[in-house]
Amino acid sequence: MHQPVMAPEAMAWLATRGEGWWADCTVGGGGHTEALLQATAPQGRVLGLDRDQEALQRVREKLAGHGERLVLVQEDYRNLADVARNSGIPGFSGVLMDLGVSSFQLDTATRGFSFLKPGPLDMRMDQRQALTAADIVNQSDEKELADIFYHYGEERRSRQLANLIVRRRPLTQTTELAELAVKAVGRSGRIHPATRAFQALRLVVNDELTGLARGLDAVQATLQTGGRLVVISFHSLEDRIVKERFRSPQWERLTKHVVRPDEKEMRANPRARSARLRAAVWRPEG
Ligand SMILES: C[S@@+](CC[C@H](N)C(=O)[O-])C[C@H]1O[C@@H](n2cnc3c(N)ncnc32)[C@H](O)[C@@H]1O
Repeated sequence: MHQPVMAPEAMAWLATRGEGWWADCTVGGGGHTEALLQATAPQGRVLGLDRDQEALQRVREKLAGHGERLVLVQEDYRNLADVARNSGIPGFSGVLMDLGVSSFQLDTATRGFSFLKPGPLDMRMDQRQALTAADIVNQSDEKELADIFYHYGEERRSRQLANLIVRRRPLTQTTELAELAVKAVGRSGRIHPATRAFQALRLVVNDELTGLARGLDAVQATLQTGGRLVVISFHSLEDRIVKERFRSPQWERLTKHVVRPDEKEMRANPRARSARLRAAVWRPEG
């Protein structure tokens, strides 16, 4: 069973009114969507976005019982303002972004997100997109690859890994890349040596950091004055973008410092271990 990360904390920040519209920008397995529907019942309505069609299909069935209170749209959250306009939503009382990949995406070998599962080097969240991880791995030159691993994975052995890849390619399988990462990075510490390389490729395939910045612009365009944004991120590159944005005088921070899950949640849910939550109120008049 998929457990939504830091759901009680997120709901405490978000569901302070009973009426209006909320947006869940990252529906995934629908855990937070369901929590939002419960926390804003019976009047609150929820617009749920995800760019992964399989995710939306599953959640559409799972949460069908909520009827018109829930509207689900397959769309990138950077287009939140357009979707809201087309759905006749005047503005949001609260918005949630739970960033990164879902457990379902990670656990489905054929999606290619996991270095532990044999599958194609794919990593697309939106399968309508053409660019895959294999394209990047096989078509970038050695320096471009090294830069990707360094900037988006903070991988210190980026150049060694890029060199091994260029000599071995074409690569088509997750396990081939994982093996090269083990060779280049070596096994030490608690995290798997391929973690950073896979993170880097995933961020680039899905253009996640630019997407987050554009998504925050869209949130600013659609939140009502006094509306709230909660962002849960899973690595420092994402968290830095959110932290910088919340420095603007238009945002009143609810969390002075980043909030981490409690010990109990971290023990029960390994995915929660790297989670960081920030919340703020939109005050465009400054
Ligand atoms: C961490 S999961 C969300 C899990 C969800 N909160 C739950 O409780 O099950 C993140 C989801 O966001 C989606 N996603 C990531 N970037 C996106 C974007 N730019 N636009 C829309 N969805 C995105 C992914 O496809 C993934 O399903």
